[in-house]
Amino acid sequence: MKTSIAIYPGSFDPVTNGHLDLIMRGEKMFDRLIVAVLKNMEKEPLFTVPERVEMLREVTKQWPAVEVEVFEGLLVEYARKRDAAVILRGIRAVSDYEYELQMALMNRKLEPRLETVFMLPGESYSYLSAKLVREIAQLGGPLTGLVPPLVEQKIRAKLAAAAS
Ligand code: PNS
Repeated sequence: MKTSIAIYPGSFDPVTNGHLDLIMRGEKMFDRLIVAVLKNMEKEPLFTVPERVEMLREVTKQWPAVEVEVFEGLLVEYARKRDAAVILRGIRAVSDYEYELQMALMNRKLEPRLETVFMLPGESYSYLSAKLVREIAQLGGPLTGLVPPLVEQKIRAKLAAAAS
């Protein structure tokens, strides 16, 4: 396994400035960073998986070493297929730790050669989550500084279409 390929997995519904901050940091550390969007069965996502991928590709296009893909099934299987040795995850606050620890240790049990690397996003993003972004958007609140302008536009367009 090559240590220089890392996977940054998540739902990214939608990509936030906190995710982007982590991608920017990860891109400096690894030769290749694969942002992997989970194709899950979530009941009411705001964006479809192809829409999330399109937005992620657009907002990460300045980094040639960053790729955006979709995965389904076990993360460790996907990492094996992509020859990645590292899973990158962000920890914003102590409250993230328990869930992240559980996932990292389970992934280690499933594939001991795969390391999880935790990085801290900029502290100004420590309270930011995609879930809160969706909630603020649905309640008509401002999204400036929380998501890239393109994502804000797409959210507004989606909500306007849903309301009409
Ligand atoms: O952005 P999220 O929703 O916190 O990301 C969670 C994600 C996608 C990293 C996690 O749900 C995952 O890895 N799912 C793939 C299925 C899997 O491997 N499950 C076992 C994890 S221990």
